[in-house]
Amino acid sequence: MTSSADDPIDADADALRRLLRHQASTVTVVTAPGAPPVGFTATSFTSVSLTPPIVSFCLNLGSSTWPTLAQARHVAVHLLAHGQHKLAQIFATSGIDRFAAPTRWRPGPNGLPILDGALAWLACRVVDRVVVGDHAVVLAEPELLRHADVGSPLLYHRGRYAGLADAPDGTARRAAA
Ligand SMILES: Cc1cc2nc3c(=O)[nH]c(=O)nc-3n(C[C@H](O)[C@H](O)[C@H](O)COP(=O)(O)O)c2cc1C
Repeated sequence: MTSSADDPIDADADALRRLLRHQASTVTVVTAPGAPPVGFTATSFTSVSLTPPIVSFCLNLGSSTWPTLAQARHVAVHLLAHGQHKLAQIFATSGIDRFAAPTRWRPGPNGLPILDGALAWLACRVVDRVVVGDHAVVLAEPELLRHADVGSPLLYHRGRYAGLADAPDGTARRAAA
């Protein structure tokens, strides 16, 4: 039997990773208090329920953030704005102090590190952690939030940071880096 480009292929980890490059995602940074505080860039953030309000994100169990997140009672999720791709890079880089300059942040509710300049942030109480394969799905209830009236999001697509082509305020037209 001959195969064609239309034939489905086995959905193993590599195939899934390649397919997911087609998924455009908003870019978030999740932070939690600690000594030192922790934070990581995540595209896995999503809303789960409105009543009650529940959001989720997934964290690799092998990441340096997991030991703190495994115990954390509160987390902050920041939806990054177009133009914040350097901040996204910092919070995805291993072995550096992600909270050192040029990162600008301040202590917020429950000691949560709140990053400057995000489009929106949510201060959440962790309600559950479900280990699934090599990741934990963290479920959290937003308690306080803040969002901008204008601005467009930082996106990630095909391994590149990007912005909306038709951002209403004209701030994002093309890939940033
Ligand atoms: C755009 C982007 C999105 C990411 N999304 C996630 C995510 O949703 N979950 C996750 O565990 N790691 C994600 N990562 C990887 C982490 O940000 C971080 O690089 C990884 O945890 C390695 O950090 P460590 O050296 O502290 O272990 C993402 C990285 C990038 C660049």
